[in-house]
Amino acid sequence: MKINTSKPIIIKWINNNTIKTAIHSNYKNAIIRKCDSISFDGPHIYIKNGIHYFIDSPKTYTYEEGVELSTLCTKPQINLYIKNISDYKSIGEIGIRYGSSSKFILDNNNNLSTLDLYEINENCIEIAKERLRDYSKWRIFEGDAEETLKTNNTYYDLVFFDCSHIYEIDIEIFKSLLAHIDDKTVIIFDDYYLDDVKHLVRDVQKMIPNNKIIYKQERMK
Ligand SMILES: C[S@@+](CC[C@H](N)C(=O)[O-])C[C@H]1O[C@@H](n2cnc3c(N)ncnc32)[C@H](O)[C@@H]1O
Repeated sequence: MKINTSKPIIIKWINNNTIKTAIHSNYKNAIIRKCDSISFDGPHIYIKNGIHYFIDSPKTYTYEEGVELSTLCTKPQINLYIKNISDYKSIGEIGIRYGSSSKFILDNNNNLSTLDLYEINENCIEIAKERLRDYSKWRIFEGDAEETLKTNNTYYDLVFFDCSHIYEIDIEIFKSLLAHIDDKTVIIFDDYYLDDVKHLVRDVQKMIPNNKIIYKQERMK
């Protein structure tokens, strides 16, 4: 992102984070800025009159346009971990933010039968629904994943766990996830550099010692 401005930049959160949503470095990209002009060199979210629009291409906006802009980390993360997403048929993504990884899965998985998305944040849900509107084979479970995971018992052969990044929250969500997996399920944890995620992965490895657990960006090797 390039920002050219001589005016002070006003930053405020675009959403009301509930106690159960985490704030970490990527999430902090959810900002609204007011400045002389602002250019995005890739996908971004454009907010006007409270409505969120997902823009796929680079664009420059002026202050006069009266836009409120938010740049978000819209790059899919899941493709950093998996060589061939088509190896998996039934996938659960826990924490989807704006559906970037969800969209990647839908675009690149020819064998997909089910993609279940779990998200608590209303703004994220709204944007993700809009982005994924033209796709099939996905459904979204809205609310705290600890609870919404209990509302169905779909089996997942792949889980992308990318949720609150707060140990105490994520371990409870993981316990709810246990009903959806067996020892063949592959589980990916994003953001392993965070202490809470390291703690989570350590405990999960003890709970399900036979599963393949990915937390390093294998595809990058
Ligand atoms: C890092 S983002 C997910 C990024 C997404 N997986 C991707 O690759 O683009 C984490 C998401 O988890 C959501 N989240 C946090 N706590 C949650 C909870 N208890 N239940 C469901 N979603 C939650 C947040 O609202 C946020 O959108």
